[in-house]
Amino acid sequence: MHGFTDVDRQSDPDSWVDVLDRLTEEPFYRAYQERVRELLRPMPGRRYVEVGAGAGASAARLRDAHDVSVTTVDRSLTMAAAMRARGLTQCVVADAHQLPFLSNSFDGAWADRTVQHLADPHTAVEELVRVVRPHGRIVLADPDYDTQVLDIADQNLARRVLRFRADVLLRNGTLAHQHAGLLAALGLVDITVEPRTLLVRDPTAVDNVLGLRSWAATAAHRGTLDPTEARAFEEQFDEAVKAHRFTYAVTFFLTAATVA
Ligand SMILES: C[S@@+](CC[C@H](N)C(=O)[O-])C[C@H]1O[C@@H](n2cnc3c(N)ncnc32)[C@H](O)[C@@H]1O
Repeated sequence: MHGFTDVDRQSDPDSWVDVLDRLTEEPFYRAYQERVRELLRPMPGRRYVEVGAGAGASAARLRDAHDVSVTTVDRSLTMAAAMRARGLTQCVVADAHQLPFLSNSFDGAWADRTVQHLADPHTAVEELVRVVRPHGRIVLADPDYDTQVLDIADQNLARRVLRFRADVLLRNGTLAHQHAGLLAALGLVDITVEPRTLLVRDPTAVDNVLGLRSWAATAAHRGTLDPTEARAFEEQFDEAVKAHRFTYAVTFFLTAATVA
């Protein structure tokens, strides 16, 4: 499973805080996270909750920019410590599937790159909706790994490695295009979906944190790819970088809705 499924059990939990802090400074992440916060339609003095808030950078930005009250939830003690160090005092260690809040407690709730890691996304989204008052806002953001493309010489090999990323490394790596359906089934209204495509042309930049080059080796380690194919993937990856043709893309979907 992906490290974000259980951060505290990783060999170096603090390094996952570092991953989130580095990503949140990348222009693509900064921009789409700002849009996520806009989609909440924050109003001064109102109450918002982020579930799976990680190191809390986005939650802190919402609080500071809109003078709102922000509660954060994460199941990881490591992430909670990072959030408290950031002054996010209303930080709760809890599971997204069972939120420790009364119904209708918030004016809006969001989950950013969290649903992809959850054992039961349907229950977790129901919980998000339960804690938001009628006419409040819900925003979900996740990459959808069914949308990936990668230019290396052997496109068949690329597709196999990308499928491994989508289907094995993540619990719900291909669910984001169905978030609107989840919200519609729960009776939400005013549902919108916005695509944002992450394009990586310099894998030494953002890819350091995505770990794209390592996916084939992980697949070989797990027995789903031959080690010689994993080496071929890395060679072709490096060739593509050297030839200045390296291109990887994946689309994120930002899904927003209003509780009826
Ligand atoms: C990719 S991080 C996203 C962090 C944050 N939303 C951000 O924008 O930087 C996913 C977070 O979800 C948390 N998480 C994973 N499973 C969870 C669960 N069942 N309940 C609550 N949080 C969970 C992880 O600990 C991690 O901090």
